[in-house]
Amino acid sequence: MALKYAMAASGAILVLYLIVHMYGNLMIFGGQTTFDTYAHHLREIGEPMLPHEGFLWIVRVVLLAAVLVHAYAAFVLWNRAKKARPAGQRYQVKKSAQTPSRRYATQTMRWGGVIIILFVIYHILHLTTNDIAPGGASDSAYQRVVNGFQIWWVTLSYLVAMLAVGLHLRHGVFSALSTLGANRASRQRALRNASTAIAALITVGFLLPPFSVLFGLVS
Ligand code: HEM
Repeated sequence: MALKYAMAASGAILVLYLIVHMYGNLMIFGGQTTFDTYAHHLREIGEPMLPHEGFLWIVRVVLLAAVLVHAYAAFVLWNRAKKARPAGQRYQVKKSAQTPSRRYATQTMRWGGVIIILFVIYHILHLTTNDIAPGGASDSAYQRVVNGFQIWWVTLSYLVAMLAVGLHLRHGVFSALSTLGANRASRQRALRNASTAIAALITVGFLLPPFSVLFGLVS
């Protein structure tokens, strides 16, 4: 049970980060100065009590720890569920005990998680360090976003990643709320709808900037 709570708590930290990050990205619609000032301020939060980028590093360490706890808990829980099946019957039991929707959820979470981790590495190399610079490198965060998402395959790669994030969130939020005891039979449908709505909101919010650049609304 402790692992399920660890999974829910680390997931909650990651969802909170996603909401703040998605909201911050929408500042792209305020224009170059607004967005670049925002990116600059992120590095100054807490100064002079903290060194330059001090707060940012605290956030990075917390996020990395949350990802590690989340992945470790997932791994151990899956292994435990697999071992719980009677030996020798593993495959028969798997087929009969796992409904198609459960199998779908397991596969979505597992492969979705892998896609998201690979995306985050690509994304940091793209928009933070700018080592990957499709459309040209720049010191301006705004320009990096505009240069990148003008290229269709860059936007497409983010679309795929955001769909993975959305599906992961839909199931993850539902599971977390269930773990925390919100799952009564009478509320199952409401809980599913709420999880889908939160996931859709975050996914659409993230996709607005790339598609606005691709369609020339932000340039
Ligand atoms: C279309 C969607 C997204 C856009 C346009 C976007 C945009 C950006 C930008 C512009 C930066 C660099 C900020 C700076 O250097 O000032 C950044 C950093 C980052 N983003 Fe995103 N992001 C998106 C989705 C995501 C998602 C889904 C995740 C997580 C799953 C994520 C995680 C991160 C992380 C971890 C950083 C690095 C922060 C750091 O260490 O400095 N982003 N993003």
